[in-house]
Amino acid sequence: MNEAPRQSDPGAGPGESDWDRGLRPTRLDEFVGQPHLQEQLRIFLEAARARSEPLEHVLLVGPPGLGKTTLAGILAREMGTEARITSGPVIERAGDLAGILTNLEDGEVLFIDEVHRLHRNVEEYLYPAMEDFRLDIVLDKGPGARSIRLHLTHFTLIGATTRAGMLTSPLRSRFGFVARLDFYSEEDLGRILHRSASILEARLSAGGAEEIARRARGTPRIANRLLRRVRDYAEVRANGEIDRRVASDALDLLAVDHRGLDEMDLRLLRTVLTKFGGGPVGLNTIAAAVGEEAETIEEIYEPYLVKEGYLERTPRGRVSTERAAEHLGVPFVPPPGRSAVETSGSSPGPLFERESP
Ligand SMILES: Nc1ncnc2c1ncn2[C@@H]1O[C@H](COP(=O)(O)OP(=O)(O)OP(=O)(O)O)[C@@H](O)[C@H]1O
Ligand SMILES: [Mg+2]
Repeated sequence: MNEAPRQSDPGAGPGESDWDRGLRPTRLDEFVGQPHLQEQLRIFLEAARARSEPLEHVLLVGPPGLGKTTLAGILAREMGTEARITSGPVIERAGDLAGILTNLEDGEVLFIDEVHRLHRNVEEYLYPAMEDFRLDIVLDKGPGARSIRLHLTHFTLIGATTRAGMLTSPLRSRFGFVARLDFYSEEDLGRILHRSASILEARLSAGGAEEIARRARGTPRIANRLLRRVRDYAEVRANGEIDRRVASDALDLLAVDHRGLDEMDLRLLRTVLTKFGGGPVGLNTIAAAVGEEAETIEEIYEPYLVKEGYLERTPRGRVSTERAAEHLGVPFVPPPGRSAVETSGSSPGPLFERESP
């Protein structure tokens, strides 16, 4: 039977370097930004602790790199326990899930990353486990089938997803707390960068931090990655000090433009704007044109472009905005059926398809 590894750092999966791990905040006090969510979590934690109860199940929702895995680790630690880590697609059979759940100690946290990718047959077993802390396992098949009931400890499930819209509603409704992470302000990214720089013993000026923050797509993971590259540049091409000039030159070299858009962002916008006359154009068509998977575009590139008002999602497809045209220096042609005045605003408008809450 399977057992999820018990790790004090839930982000310590393969592919993550020691470097990233060292920068991951471990307590809520070190977690920067998301003030509204932080306040909610403080109350949630304090109330559970005061009642000496395990936390209710938590769903963490938001685009990649905003701190879902980080928060899962923090919540576990704040409850004086550790997170067991697994991921939706890894749990193949009900038996795997049973193995994981029956190994949990009272109050322990099970972190399921990519929870929207759980297999359906596994997911059904999770419902009674989350709700009543029991598991009904069917033994044998056909007429001789029997089922046994396993009683589980009172555990906390923390699920993370970049795609809340892909979660089934029975699963979503079993989470007592849904935490949504938003893109970070430049100010908060600046604070994250200063924190990271001090851990790395890199010399980062206020101007240097501002310059990196502005180009980090509202995303801590990207901010930290850019910091690492800029530090290389500062050490090799300058005296090691990261000031505004050094940061700006290094980021130009990395082809991250002054609004934080990278090559793929620009290619996407240019495709919608020039190849498809500003849209509306379907996601799959865009994907084929830029040579990237539709899912990747939807999950990684689009959220920021939509949030910044470069792109809109409409029921008929993607539409580029006047802001995108301005940014790329091409003339703006309003999409059919809408006047230039209506489309000039950066707000997504009623046609914007939101993930349902
Ligand atoms: N609020 C924060 N304060 C400081 N650093 C942060 C914060 N959020 C994230 N980070 C940094 O960004 C990195 C990425 O965060 P994390 O791995 O938690 O993102 P994620 O939402 O789980 O992403 P994915 O969806 O790709 O799994 C972390 O290693 C951490 O160093
Ligand atoms: Mg993660």
